[in-house]
Amino acid sequence: MFLRTFLGLAAAAATGLGASLQQVSSFGDNPTNIQMFIYVPDNVAANPAVIVALHPCGGTGQQWFSGTQLPSHADQNGFILVYPSTPHMSNCWDVQNPDSLTHGQGGDALGIISMVNYTLDTYSGDRERVYVMGFSSGGMMTNVMAGSYPDVFAAGAAYSGVAFGCFQGAPSATPMSPNQTCAQGMQKAPGEWGNLVRNAYPGYTGRRPRMQITHGLADNLVLPTCGEEALKQWSDVLGVEFTRDVAGVPSSGWTQKIYGGDGVQLQGFLGQGVGHSPSVDEEQLLNWFGITGGGENGGGGDNGGGDNGGGDNGGGETGGGTVALWGQCGGNGYSGPTGCAEGTCKVLNEWYSQCTP
Ligand SMILES: *[C@@H]1O[C@H](CO)[C@@H](O)[C@H](O)[C@H]1NC(C)=O
Ligand SMILES: *[C@@H]1O[C@H](CO)[C@@H](O)[C@H](O)[C@H]1NC(C)=O
Repeated sequence: MFLRTFLGLAAAAATGLGASLQQVSSFGDNPTNIQMFIYVPDNVAANPAVIVALHPCGGTGQQWFSGTQLPSHADQNGFILVYPSTPHMSNCWDVQNPDSLTHGQGGDALGIISMVNYTLDTYSGDRERVYVMGFSSGGMMTNVMAGSYPDVFAAGAAYSGVAFGCFQGAPSATPMSPNQTCAQGMQKAPGEWGNLVRNAYPGYTGRRPRMQITHGLADNLVLPTCGEEALKQWSDVLGVEFTRDVAGVPSSGWTQKIYGGDGVQLQGFLGQGVGHSPSVDEEQLLNWFGITGGGENGGGGDNGGGDNGGGDNGGGETGGGTVALWGQCGGNGYSGPTGCAEGTCKVLNEWYSQCTP
């Protein structure tokens, strides 16, 4: 109780927000007993949009609350943020669990859907504007949520994740698991990846979430191929072909990959020299979700100011040779920077150390 209050106050002080992150203890069907935290800004909009934000392995919902600038954007724009939190499997989401990979079946995915339903019911949320985003394990789970619950999410943004179903058949989905076939860049044909998604909800013919896939090209924990495979998957599911690359979007060193002509249905961002590190450009993301700005504009050029260089979470491994919070800072085979811009470098196993608050 003290800890929760303290974290809430610390978060409020750090961001200058009025409202604070609150835990909701009872929110509906929750087969894996995960936790729900919610941020409802003081000036919440009527019929607000809802963004589910999923933490990386080793993290919690409370910590991920300060992992991006989304809360201060919620203050400005009146949307609600839901921060699910898993205490299981080294705080990694159960992306290998057949229950989560099946619509309505169970797993962490069903608990997260209950949180969405609770939020929509409690705050008269807009069912047409429910979004999901996350980094690393949270990015993997973003693809799982979009695949298993296409009826719930209007769009998803996965950072440093893997395709839907990539871990299926592995005993767990942690950096400590003996089976890293998926994270080491497992490949499938587009149609095979697509079938995994289609089989998650047989017979579903409705709208599918628009998708955005972001990956660092120097990521050697979850290899860049994993991001490219996720793009192949969604290209197949959404029926949009790769159209063109746009260099320098959202900022220098990044390439935006546009699908389907305008990138509205699908786009990717691949970052040169960027390791396993959250690279969330919140303004770009909120524009593409359609929460701010001109709406679902996926085209190159308009990068919403692209001010991610100076922020504390932009660009991954920034020029000073330090790693952003939640980024990889060590492990066998890792050759990037080892200093943390924020937090300390914590060894999770011989393969992976992470900047942790
Ligand atoms: C969420 O709400 C939808 C629509 O009311 C309903 O069909 C679904 O069963 C609910 N799911 C959960 C897990 O509560
Ligand atoms: C390892 O995991 C992959 C999925 O990521 C699975 O296809 C494969 O069968 C697993 N290998 C073993 C030996 O369990």
